[in-house]
Amino acid sequence: MADVAQQMFTRFGKRFSAGTVLFREGDRGEEMFIIQSGKVKISKKIRGVEKTLATLEKGEFFGEMAILNDKPRSATAEVVEEGDMLVIDRKTFETLLRSNVEIAIRFIKRLADRLRETNDQMEALMIRDNTSRLVNILAKRVRESKGGTLSLAVDDVAGMAGIETAQAKSIVDKLASVRIVAVSPDGKITISTQEQVDRLLRYLEMREIFGEMM
Ligand code: CMP
Repeated sequence: MADVAQQMFTRFGKRFSAGTVLFREGDRGEEMFIIQSGKVKISKKIRGVEKTLATLEKGEFFGEMAILNDKPRSATAEVVEEGDMLVIDRKTFETLLRSNVEIAIRFIKRLADRLRETNDQMEALMIRDNTSRLVNILAKRVRESKGGTLSLAVDDVAGMAGIETAQAKSIVDKLASVRIVAVSPDGKITISTQEQVDRLLRYLEMREIFGEMM
């Protein structure tokens, strides 16, 4: 198995440094990417403002949409942490899907996950006030994380909540001042103890009952 991975990397692997824009929204697409290491930000300009749709890491793929439906790139992909990717051209991708049902099923499952995430995001965006929206996103991440320390970049959370980063920072600082979350020295939002999780969920419940007064 390690040999297959090595062969794939020899054939399709490329290293990209942080800051590399792999493609931009609207470009014609001929390749899809599978992340071996590092991180890639997927973003879209909405009314002139860049919004992060997702930050993808090891094991995830992107750039498949343009080659599957023969349409321009639906978003921009930028390397935010240096890493290795498999860069697969259209023909190889199609051959891979046709010849290997397991790989095809894995892709379909991941696409289904992505659709679910997008629906959840849409639901979150329908919440009117910014703090509730941000707290809902944190609560959802807490529920998904099944324990352990949750560490999230303010930028990413701001993007998911559709809030400017500066405003998200000020909301996070307020939440930190009442110890609902903590902010690590590198500026990440961390939720590490059950007590913090409970506080977060209680806060959310109260906001749902009392609305924007909270
Ligand atoms: P493509 O349209 O080729 O180029 C942009 C890529 O970003 C797209 O393919 C998907 O792979 C990826 N992408 C688009 N929307 C999302 C999303 N909401 N979450 C994660 N990835 C996405």
